[in-house]
Amino acid sequence: MSTVGVVGAGYVGLTTAACLAHLGHDVVCGDLDADRVRRLNKGETPILEEGLDDLVVEGLRSGRLRFVLGASQAAAGVEFVFLCVPTPQGSDGRADLGAIDAAAREIASVLRPASVVVNKSTVPVGSTERVDRVLREAGAVADVGVASNPEFLREGTAVRDFLHPSRVVVGADDTAVGTRVSELYRGVRAPVLVTDPASAEMVKYASNAFLATKISFVNAIAAVCESVNADIREVVLGMGYDPRIGFEFLHPGPGWGGSCFPKDTAALLGTADDAGYDFALLRGVVSSNDEQRERMVAKVRDACGGDLAGARVAVWGLTFKANTDDLRDSPAVSIASLLAGSGAVVRAYDPASGEAAADLPGIEVVPDAYAACVDADVLVVLTEWDEFRWLDFGRVAGAMRRAELVDTRNLLDPAAMRRIGFGYRGVGR
Ligand code: UDX
Repeated sequence: MSTVGVVGAGYVGLTTAACLAHLGHDVVCGDLDADRVRRLNKGETPILEEGLDDLVVEGLRSGRLRFVLGASQAAAGVEFVFLCVPTPQGSDGRADLGAIDAAAREIASVLRPASVVVNKSTVPVGSTERVDRVLREAGAVADVGVASNPEFLREGTAVRDFLHPSRVVVGADDTAVGTRVSELYRGVRAPVLVTDPASAEMVKYASNAFLATKISFVNAIAAVCESVNADIREVVLGMGYDPRIGFEFLHPGPGWGGSCFPKDTAALLGTADDAGYDFALLRGVVSSNDEQRERMVAKVRDACGGDLAGARVAVWGLTFKANTDDLRDSPAVSIASLLAGSGAVVRAYDPASGEAAADLPGIEVVPDAYAACVDADVLVVLTEWDEFRWLDFGRVAGAMRRAELVDTRNLLDPAAMRRIGFGYRGVGR
């Protein structure tokens, strides 16, 4: 087993630290937030992620996991240091690497000989070289290695995605360094790709951009289905049986969002521009995704007889997808805001968004799904929380002023809703 330092206890860092400890490594995870470090050392996990809190407690109890303040304490004396710091979108759409540079500078002087610094944050092509340069300039010992090890974690299933990945990708100029990093995943059953840094970095962006493309494509097909009276569910079924297409990521909806796809597609467009390639295809994927939100607003306007001014709109779901508490770049939040901006009175319920949703302008957040529907003219399902399926729709219809339903996630059964008396609008059917 190895000694590992993880810099950053956010989504990626905390999952990485807890899972590597679970795989048997000795892990020290550092963060700048003293309160977060204190709470984590008490086993309190600050993010909603299935199975993560148990793994953190397991790691603390086994003595294989502990949390410290700052990057240098986490990096001192260990064999591997994972950089898991934020790379937010900069004003020009490109990834802001300020936190990566700062972390590399901070750890350079404490790195032990033959240790390896691993980029796990989502970083543009060329960032492994950049970290290597920053480390050298900051006085790191000569034989420190650098590598890229992109993550493919989805919010809501991050622990499962880490321990049961579809692949492990490692990029390093020095194959021996790459192999050492890949061996950290010895307990994981998955194909391992050890390649050069640029290719490894590109795997991450290309994968996210392709998944976003798949979703934008199925949303476009759904739009055509609505005009030709086809049913997107049947169409996706017919497409998905083809193993070259598959069923995954073909769920039509209000568009993709979250902390990754918007940021990563923008960063890839920036990289392509810098490389002199006009990535028109990806620009189309992004612009049609923006349009998808407008299409959902148009559906709601239609359900309200063509005018949103003064319409009472009930919203179910604010997070960018189910099983997470994350509102970042959420299609649900932007659609609800667009509705409020068009004069609608918006009342929303979300099972997990909590305090974070309390200050959304023009959106009144209520404590339960039924409360959102009182005297409403239309109910709009924006996030595919499973619990919405099991509600009493007779009671919902009874509480509403007009029983109109816009199901942007195709979560509900149109026939059943119509039998109850709802006017039902889905996506692509
Ligand atoms: C994504 C990638 O899946 C993951 O591999 C990467 O590491 C980080 O980015 P995440 O942001 O958690 O993960 O969300 P994901 O589950 O991919 O969903 C992204 C968006 O697409 C959400 O808004 C979701 O609602 C939407 N989506 C997803 C669809 O509209 N239809 C689908 O079929 C799948």
